[in-house]
Amino acid sequence: MTEQVLLRAIDVHKSFGGVEVLKGIDLEMRQGQVVSLIGASGSGKTTFLRCVNMLEEHDAGDILLDGEPIGYRVENGQRKRLSEAKVSAQRARIGMVFQQFNLFPHLTAEENVMLGLTKVLGKSKAEAREIAGHWLGKVGLSQRRGHYPYQLSGGQQQRVAMARAVAMEPRLLLFDEVTSALDPELVAEVLGVMKALAESGMTMLVVSHEMLFVREVSHHVVFMDGGRVAQAGSPAEVFDNPQSDRLRNFLGRFHGLFGRG
Ligand SMILES: Nc1ncnc2c1ncn2[C@@H]1O[C@H](COP(=O)(O)OP(=O)(O)O)[C@@H](O)[C@H]1O
Ligand SMILES: [Mg+2]
Repeated sequence: MTEQVLLRAIDVHKSFGGVEVLKGIDLEMRQGQVVSLIGASGSGKTTFLRCVNMLEEHDAGDILLDGEPIGYRVENGQRKRLSEAKVSAQRARIGMVFQQFNLFPHLTAEENVMLGLTKVLGKSKAEAREIAGHWLGKVGLSQRRGHYPYQLSGGQQQRVAMARAVAMEPRLLLFDEVTSALDPELVAEVLGVMKALAESGMTMLVVSHEMLFVREVSHHVVFMDGGRVAQAGSPAEVFDNPQSDRLRNFLGRFHGLFGRG
């Protein structure tokens, strides 16, 4: 059975100061799928994620989550920006994990995970603590729940950030280069958590330069180039059958990392 479409982007455009950085992005994600965005720096990957999460307002096109437009409603054929309260409610259905972990430095690991549960979802402290404990356990940090971010390695901080995101039970999780700020020896533990999340059926939209991971975990891979989708398909189609020199050159940069020769 085909799962229902969870996220649909249709001809999404976005400009900054007259420079168009998204030139019509189309994308479809089904529930439980992992879709990865790859592409050179500046190709628009982060901007697209930020539009999905309403950190940026797209100029034209539609982004639908569960069939519902994100960030606005349509009234008499006109787009009307939703109130901040409505935007917050929509945003609670989409989690995001960033390259910089963005943990609150004055809160423990457990308190960082609890915050959204109490403040956004209105759960009691006791319930929030229980949920936080569950997810910190899932990311292998049961013993670190009382630690502050400065007492944790980068990989541990990033795993706290992931626990915080999944604890909210989002419909969709966005990951923007979440291993790029980590020392190389810490990358695997974070990718391991992402892989486990993917296997648990979480719907994930992932920007990553970890090509082996992308190839192994993704159902669908999207190569972005200059604000457009240049090629998209299964990992095998994209990695083994690049249709342009741009994609061949892009992938070629990673071959040294693949341990050939
Ligand atoms: N807030 C902004 N203001 C102006 N230009 C921006 C802003 N955010 C991104 N850009 C520009 O948009 C383009 C795409 O950036 P980005 O989405 O960050 O690409 P990627 O994540 O693929 O590296 C780049 O040229 C970048 O300089
Ligand atoms: Mg980026």
